[in-house]
Amino acid sequence: MRTHYCGQVNLRHIGQEVSLCGWAQRRRDHGGVIFIDLRDRKGLAQIVCDPDRPEMFSAAESIRNEFCLRVTGKVRARPEGTVNPNMDSGEVEILCSELEILNPSVTPPFQLDDDNLSENVRLQHRVIDLRRPQMQKNLELRYKAARAFRRFLDEAGFIDIETPMLTKSTPEGARDYLVPSRVNAGQFFALPQSPQLFKQLLMIAGFDRYYQITKCFRDEDLRADRQPEFTQVDIETSFLDESAIIGIMENLFRHVFKESIGVELPDPFPRLTYAEAMRRYGSDKPDLRVTLELVDITDAVKDVPFKVFSTPANSENGRVAAMRIPGGASLTRGEIDEYTRFAGIYGAKGLAYIKINDVTRLDDSGLQSPIVKNLHENALKAIVERTRAQTGDLIFFGADKAKIVNDALGALRVRIGHEKAHVNEMKWAPLWIVDFPMFEYDDEAKRWVACHHPFTSPKDEHVPLLLGDPGKCLAKAYDLAMNGWELGGGSIRIHRADIQKQVFNALGIDGQEAKLKFGFLLDALNYGAPPHGGVAFGLDRIVSMMAGADSIRDVIAFPKTQRAQCLLTDAPSEVSDRQLRELHIRPAPKISQSA
Ligand code: AMO
Ligand code: AMP
Repeated sequence: MRTHYCGQVNLRHIGQEVSLCGWAQRRRDHGGVIFIDLRDRKGLAQIVCDPDRPEMFSAAESIRNEFCLRVTGKVRARPEGTVNPNMDSGEVEILCSELEILNPSVTPPFQLDDDNLSENVRLQHRVIDLRRPQMQKNLELRYKAARAFRRFLDEAGFIDIETPMLTKSTPEGARDYLVPSRVNAGQFFALPQSPQLFKQLLMIAGFDRYYQITKCFRDEDLRADRQPEFTQVDIETSFLDESAIIGIMENLFRHVFKESIGVELPDPFPRLTYAEAMRRYGSDKPDLRVTLELVDITDAVKDVPFKVFSTPANSENGRVAAMRIPGGASLTRGEIDEYTRFAGIYGAKGLAYIKINDVTRLDDSGLQSPIVKNLHENALKAIVERTRAQTGDLIFFGADKAKIVNDALGALRVRIGHEKAHVNEMKWAPLWIVDFPMFEYDDEAKRWVACHHPFTSPKDEHVPLLLGDPGKCLAKAYDLAMNGWELGGGSIRIHRADIQKQVFNALGIDGQEAKLKFGFLLDALNYGAPPHGGVAFGLDRIVSMMAGADSIRDVIAFPKTQRAQCLLTDAPSEVSDRQLRELHIRPAPKISQSA
């Protein structure tokens, strides 16, 4: 049917007869001549229909947007002045000799070149949306990236093994999607939050190097970088330590970026400990393109009269930190108010600041701020020295529980960095975060929860802390972050049943519960489980970063909305009473709105 892709016809084809298949992007009538922009996956071609072939011409007159066409004709150079440098085929056009309407189209819901479409409209009419060149590019890029992952891993001796979708809950910190069992009344499968336990079982079974590009399911609050079903490049190895695994994964990443978008990533990637990342950037996925940094002043403000600072400075989980904005004295009142509001989103109760009008005078005359009179000279000196503030700068402060200070100043750092151009020349800034804590204290649940997942190995020397002081226990875990996004995470796993039991213990999972939920793992660990570890990368996030997309939805063919719905198929939807009965499910009575 076709000899070439539309977007690939060029000067080399002049004089040749070509046949193209595609969709009419636009029809223009120009004084008796009809021009059609014909579009396929590779781009556009300009078709010229002359009135001297009446049959073909009257077919051309009936063409509307998105008709599916087959066109045959001779390639010729465009007349001077009509060359379009924005199109690959912009120097040529096809003089149509045969025109076949393969299928007409009703009027599409929107113009494909409309840049102001609401996402809901796009998702409702995803088929038409996917015809847009940007979406075609995004999905091709996704394919290329997945192919590059596969090629590297195949070459490196990893084998692809599938793991079940109907399975038992694997705790990765989200809610499970459950699937009721028809044949086992009252029982449920869980869709996997990750293949974590299966890949560990595969290591125990002796497969040594495994990978899989697979779907994971997590019922959690959705954001621009989260989908309820998403794709992981999931990897596990035996007999390698942390730094060997990190080394292979870095090579993998460099390969994938080179193959997919021609980008050379640094070699090696920088590594930061979790503690340092939190101290300097307030984040465990810092955007290293931003040059602003947080500095700690907790110890310097313990005895100042300003309670906003001295109270958290003297409390156990408190932190007081400063962030210098070079040249920031020129920020307007309105800008500072907006940043204060923004910090509030992360729980900050305010955003104290000092404008440095003259760095040589550490009092009201050189420092402009409502808080200066409540800080003593030693504190002011420490602040100026540690932040290396200069005349003309501004310093922002966060004072609260460490988590709030880190979240608020960490987010503000990224926002101000990009808004006010406090960035370096890096376009891609990957890094590893290492030495994560094993556990985080969940204030609401009043217990320790795993920072990664409960199968992560503690550092050997920290095993004794598991019982006495779990908060101090560090893990053999590592995350890969880039440009402020977490792209992947992994760890060395626990391969000894006794240590696994101790970690369950620290998490408040008693022997009986452990047996019920993870008995199959504990059993398998008893059969000579090898030392093993691995990682999983978020393919959707990686590709959307490569594509420069605002949301991972733009690199997923059929994504869900923020409300976890598919607007195209209208899923989830109600099912018949009969289906529910078969599944042994009785719907809870609907509670009326007014009740
Ligand atoms: P983790 O939970 O960190 O690790 O997930 C690995 C990576 O998957 C991506 N990701 C997501 N992407 C889109 N939508 C989501 N809802 C979502 N959740 C996670 C992120 C993340 O870095 N089993 C472990 C890995 C291991 O230890 O080997 C795991 O799943 O990019
Ligand atoms: P106040 O004494 O509450 O009027 O606050 C004086 C200044 O401190 C204002 O600029 C507030 O925005 C700021 N501020 C109040 N609470 C905090 C906090 N927890 N962290 C940082 N700045 C704060």
